[in-house]
Amino acid sequence: MMARVPLIAGNWKMNKTVGEALRLVDEMLPGLQAVQGVEKLLCPPAIAIMPVAAMLEGKGIGLGAQNLHWEKDGAYTGELSTAMVAEFCQYVIVGHSERRALFGDSDLNVHRKVTAALAAGLKPVLCIGETLEQNEAGRAAEVLSAQLRAALEGVQINSAEALVVAYEPVWAIGTGKAASPEPINTLLRNVVRPTLAGLLGQELAEGVRVLYGGSVNAANAGEYFAQPEVDGALVGGASLKAADFLAITQAAA
Ligand code: PGA
Repeated sequence: MMARVPLIAGNWKMNKTVGEALRLVDEMLPGLQAVQGVEKLLCPPAIAIMPVAAMLEGKGIGLGAQNLHWEKDGAYTGELSTAMVAEFCQYVIVGHSERRALFGDSDLNVHRKVTAALAAGLKPVLCIGETLEQNEAGRAAEVLSAQLRAALEGVQINSAEALVVAYEPVWAIGTGKAASPEPINTLLRNVVRPTLAGLLGQELAEGVRVLYGGSVNAANAGEYFAQPEVDGALVGGASLKAADFLAITQAAA
């Protein structure tokens, strides 16, 4: 089996002005650079991408956008195209539950965004996850595999590194109610990875990083990374504090 390099991604969401973003990067940069064997990724708000890119130049830390539009250009007020993102970023978060719930990221639009990102050479961090209601109805497995199929049906990737999946139970995001690590591992092993294998083929599916996201913090991160199917984390709240994000990154090493 191909060894999967852990990935720790910070999703800053709508937090930090450009000035604050630069101070945060400055604070965490030396510590992050010192962590070996872990890929690190920062996803600041769109307006901070360019100045953060300049700070990260040559530092071995990845940069990602939080969203993009699938059309090449045109009358899409407020949107960013893949080419605009790809000028500065290697990654883009697609289908985050907040965007699905609040901004019209339907399964179809998520598919369009994944396809457009890959075509532009960007690596999508494809977010999937069930709501509390779906979880309580015992429908997590069904929802996760349906979201994966909708996003990835007919999608081609050339290498396993080209795609990252983030499993984020909606009820665990920003709530402090982190999901228990063992059931997460079971879902990833029995549902997510086999669904990926059906879509991408066994070999590529074995190499795709699958992250956990939802109230990951410095105290609980190690328990997730101890799970063989968890290849890192998509971190929201705790990525806004240098010491916390650094501790999570160190826990993955
Ligand atoms: P959280 O957010 O770590 O604040 O729960 C995770 C995410 O939404 O990616």
